[in-house]
Amino acid sequence: MVADERPPRSRPPDLTAPRRPNRDAGAELTAADRDASAELTAADRDACAELTAGLRAAYDAAADGWADGPGPMYTPLAQELAAAAPAPLAGATVLDLGAGLGDAGRAALAAGARQVVAADLSATMLRGGATAARPGQPMPHPVAADATALPFRDRSFDVVLAAFCLNHLADLTAGLAEARRVGAALAASMFAPGWTHPAKDAVDQVLRAFGYRPPAWHAALNPGSRASDPAQLTAAAAAAGFARVQVHTADVPTGLSTPAELASWHGPRRPVHGIT
Ligand SMILES: C[S@@+](CC[C@H](N)C(=O)[O-])C[C@H]1O[C@@H](n2cnc3c(N)ncnc32)[C@H](O)[C@@H]1O
Repeated sequence: MVADERPPRSRPPDLTAPRRPNRDAGAELTAADRDASAELTAADRDACAELTAGLRAAYDAAADGWADGPGPMYTPLAQELAAAAPAPLAGATVLDLGAGLGDAGRAALAAGARQVVAADLSATMLRGGATAARPGQPMPHPVAADATALPFRDRSFDVVLAAFCLNHLADLTAGLAEARRVGAALAASMFAPGWTHPAKDAVDQVLRAFGYRPPAWHAALNPGSRASDPAQLTAAAAAAGFARVQVHTADVPTGLSTPAELASWHGPRRPVHGIT
């Protein structure tokens, strides 16, 4: 979990207003932090853009099957994340970042959040969330957006929940800085390093035999994601301006146990819930 210590916002946000430059976060970055982010070369930025485009396409393609495939595994993890929010959700304005079908946002609404925005790179995932909603169920407001360039004013949200989103960011520090700019506190989850399951290798082997090859974005981001490494995550959060950072690992039952269930979930590969 990542949180800073600024007092809560005193007036409701105008979420539709155009985004302002990130002066607030920039003011608290050290010169070294700024030097570090300045080290991204034009080639690095092109590579990030290419990975992001690949991710968007992958999640657009996965959206139709999400609710009957990986979705149910992510639901309890999103609920756990909402329960671990570093500030009260009741009455809060919440951003569900990398919302997918919006499980974390719905958990925030169930906890009494006043307003929830679901932001995701994939508009198709967001549409899937709207389709999956039960009649009369309060729903987050969907906004298609990239976590590294959010279309919201500074301090629009009391809490940002990022369930399995940061692990997808090629520029982790940029994503954390945006979360900090728009929110007063952040809770984020990702798969902890080192998880394995007896059925996983068998499933991977069969998938490979049938020609499955992990796409470039998966190979580049997921297995070695900086976000999954507590030390690197903490350093990136500090570089993004968070004053107080806590990382802990929790075991959350996902109901994912048979090879068939693992095969239906062949996106992210390491299902240990690291709430950070
Ligand atoms: C593993 S899914 C998790 C979805 C949902 N949070 C959950 O827990 O069920 C990751 C989500 O992050 C989104 N995502 C990946 N990169 C993103 C980015 N740069 N900005 C916004 N969303 C992103 C994907 O489109 C996808 O919906």
